[in-house]
Amino acid sequence: MADWLLLIPWNQIFTAACGCFLSDRNYIHLMESNLDALQTTIEELKNRRDDLLGRVSIEEDKGLQRLAQVKGWLSSVESVESQFNDLLQARSTETGRLCLFGYCSEDFISSYNYGDKVSKMLEKVELLSRRDFEVVAQKIIRKAEKKHIQTTVGLDTLVGIAWESLKNDDIRTLGLYGMGGVGKTTLLASINNKFLELESEYDVVIWVVVSNDLQYEGIQDQILGRLSLDMEWERETENKKASLINNILNRKRFVLLLDDLWSEVDLSRIGVPTQENGSKIVFTTRSTEVCNHMRVDKQIKVDCLSPDEAWKLFQITVGDVISGGHRQDISALARIVAAKCDGLPLALNVIGKAMACKETIQEWLHAIYVLNSLGYEFPGMDERILPILKFSYDSLKNGEIKSCFLYCSLFPEDFEIEKEKLIEYWICEGFINPNRYEDGGTNQGYDIIGLLVRAHLLIDCELTDKVKLHDVIREMALWINSDFGNQEGTICVKSGAHVRLIPNDINWEIVRQMSLIHTLIKKISCSPNCPNLSTLLLSGSLRLVDISVGFFRFMPKLVVLDLSGNSWLRNLPEEISNLGSLQYLNLSRTMIKSLPVGLKKLKKLIYLNLESTRVHESLVGIAAAFPNLQVLKLFDSEVCVDDILMEELQHLEHLKILTANIEDATILERIQGIDRLASSIRGLCLRNMSAPRVILSTIALGGLQQLQIERCYISEIKIDWKSKERRELSPMEIHPSTSSPGFKQLSNVRIFGLRGQRDLSWLLFAPNLKKLQVGNSREIEEIINKEKGMSITKVHPDILLPFGNLESLNLFLLSNLTEVCWNYRTLPNLREISVRDCPKLPEDIANFLRLAEK
Ligand SMILES: *[C@@H]1O[C@H](CO)[C@@H](O)[C@H](O)[C@H]1NC(C)=O
Ligand SMILES: *[C@@H]1O[C@H](CO)[C@@H](O)[C@H](O)[C@H]1NC(C)=O
Ligand SMILES: *[C@@H]1O[C@H](CO)[C@@H](O)[C@H](O)[C@H]1NC(C)=O
Ligand SMILES: *[C@@H]1O[C@H](CO)[C@@H](O)[C@H](O)[C@H]1NC(C)=O
Ligand SMILES: *[C@@H]1O[C@H](CO)[C@@H](O)[C@H](O)[C@H]1NC(C)=O
Repeated sequence: MADWLLLIPWNQIFTAACGCFLSDRNYIHLMESNLDALQTTIEELKNRRDDLLGRVSIEEDKGLQRLAQVKGWLSSVESVESQFNDLLQARSTETGRLCLFGYCSEDFISSYNYGDKVSKMLEKVELLSRRDFEVVAQKIIRKAEKKHIQTTVGLDTLVGIAWESLKNDDIRTLGLYGMGGVGKTTLLASINNKFLELESEYDVVIWVVVSNDLQYEGIQDQILGRLSLDMEWERETENKKASLINNILNRKRFVLLLDDLWSEVDLSRIGVPTQENGSKIVFTTRSTEVCNHMRVDKQIKVDCLSPDEAWKLFQITVGDVISGGHRQDISALARIVAAKCDGLPLALNVIGKAMACKETIQEWLHAIYVLNSLGYEFPGMDERILPILKFSYDSLKNGEIKSCFLYCSLFPEDFEIEKEKLIEYWICEGFINPNRYEDGGTNQGYDIIGLLVRAHLLIDCELTDKVKLHDVIREMALWINSDFGNQEGTICVKSGAHVRLIPNDINWEIVRQMSLIHTLIKKISCSPNCPNLSTLLLSGSLRLVDISVGFFRFMPKLVVLDLSGNSWLRNLPEEISNLGSLQYLNLSRTMIKSLPVGLKKLKKLIYLNLESTRVHESLVGIAAAFPNLQVLKLFDSEVCVDDILMEELQHLEHLKILTANIEDATILERIQGIDRLASSIRGLCLRNMSAPRVILSTIALGGLQQLQIERCYISEIKIDWKSKERRELSPMEIHPSTSSPGFKQLSNVRIFGLRGQRDLSWLLFAPNLKKLQVGNSREIEEIINKEKGMSITKVHPDILLPFGNLESLNLFLLSNLTEVCWNYRTLPNLREISVRDCPKLPEDIANFLRLAEK
């Protein structure tokens, strides 16, 4: 006992006895001032955090991912914050205990500990505050991207063989070869998906589409696009790109999947490391020679299906007519037709679809007759298959549909074509009826696309409004266009990154449709004679800066001119005025600031697209200049609808489709009063608008598909669904869905920087909304407010639940958001979700939404 006493310094015994503490490290005395300091520092810390989150969010919008250090820092801040809140809660108790001007406490131990905590936390917070981040985010490199796979028969065995080979350490390069249409890409896609499923030991799986007209740089660009943190490499030389690739891949175990090699490629020239490091290279090719030149460690032949497998696939493809089994007679003939396809999956698919609707014996007999009498003789398998595939082309009902199909071959291999675009081209080319419905619809175009997709001549790209051609089918189209290889075709395709100059082997005299898409041409300085040219696709060239005087000199029949996506193009030559037949002009996503005066001479123009350009001039005179204009797109350009433009637009008698920007609330109101004009609006961007109240009429704006609200201060957004008496119904309005109110077509809404709104319950009036982005609007507390929502659904029983069709939801920088919608747990179609920097959104909602992501 005595020993123990001796070990305690006197002053402590004294202070312990009276509950006071007088030394210079007096936590108790400093407690209050430390608490105040702590509070200030925490506020500063929170501000720093908010600033950082703002920066992070900008980076994340570009597709980058926040750094681990940033994540760690943010979570430290969060935990400090919650500790601080605990301290605050205990504050009144602790300060209440203080006595003797704050030098002593009634409960010394507790106060001492408390003071100690406050002081330690202060140090910690100061330390955290001092942390500075120069870089906050980096690019996410996903391990692999899932590929879609169609119905297959008998593929599993091959996938198994390939997979076993890849497990073998001695096999680094694997070649898959076989004829076009045999299913090589599908096999490669299965391998890709297997890497994805198995969380294997590879760092990254890179898929590259090679195709015929692609060269080294094209391959490098795809690899760098997948691997690199920024786009700074874009303008580098081939050598520089190679060393970049080499640098990155050297540090990884990678799988490189090259689809469709046409000839040997020198991997080291691309930058792919050559030394052994467990990495794998798998490619597909039509030729065994490529396998040999590439010095594969193993090659696998992708063979046609056995007769049994072929028959099975054919049955699945044709469907009811034979698989029902009740038509023995047809079934027997079907076996003969299937046999004609030689076990080639592509042919079985295409011919199978052509026969799917044939229910009489006569039709099947006719098919056998046609397939038997094919007169073309070709040496190789590939060439032999084209005539067989041509059977399905011949089965197309009429010349217009055939033209529509052949037109698709203008796009580069593997190119995904927007349906809407394709249809506009077809209209101008005169393949389909140019008369739109009153609502601007072009159902005939969609009808033909559907027909070609069902015939397996076009592939529907899932979840997008795009289609593409199988490369063999595309070859067939070009082959048909060239009169079965006997002469030069009138369709000319010179697209891709290897084209840097206008090729000099183009026969401009005979060409009707010309495609120079996605080239690297910088300057066009020729002046060709093109008596029959009707379509010129010159879009998506990243380098094109100049089109010289002379180029458009003689193209008297040109109807379609697409210059969109040439992001460096600033000017158009004046002589564009020579294009007297022009109907379609797409300049969107160019840098063009002002339009040539001569443009106004193009009296036949029916389609003009200036979206996302810098064009800012007033469009006065447009009505007189383009009396036939049906489509005018101005969304996201600098052109704003004002009184004068509104007046002009009213004089465009045939205008059916309009996208526009509006900054003035009174203009918005007035335009909705002009029936014909309002109903043509497909896209509307309200920007920089300040108004106590904005009314959007579901009837007037019945065709609205895309709405953007940007930098606006609007206190009330009101949806008017009944202002107009029901007029006499036009045929389009008898559609059953018109019975309920709402923006039926509205599928895409983006809201940025909106002030004055606490909820967006009016979105209930967009029952078919697919894509919603809301960001940077700190006053928004709820997307859909339950009470308001319920009261809307009460009045309109056919508006049931919010967001029944929503596929993609993106919420960011909404600092007051606490609720999305009451039924967030049961959104049936939601596939893509991103929720960022919505600090008040309860964790369970945010987590649930993230988990729901499929
Ligand atoms: C091999 O790959 C691993 C990654 O899996 C990497 O860490 C290592 O540096 C690589 N080694 C060589 C010699 O490239
Ligand atoms: C016009 O070009 C833009 C940009 O390339 C494209 O998105 C759009 O579909 C084109 N419009 C049509 C209808 O061709
Ligand atoms: C242009 O088209 C017309 C009509 O189809 C055709 O008769 C003529 O031969 C074509 N001109 C050339 C140079 O091919
Ligand atoms: C928005 O309006 C303000 C004033 O009304 C103006 O100064 C500003 O330039 C406008 N911003 C844009 C992007 O138009
Ligand atoms: C939340 O909204 C209120 C007004 O509704 C606003 O004053 C406040 O600044 C918002 N909070 C944040 C963190 O932005």
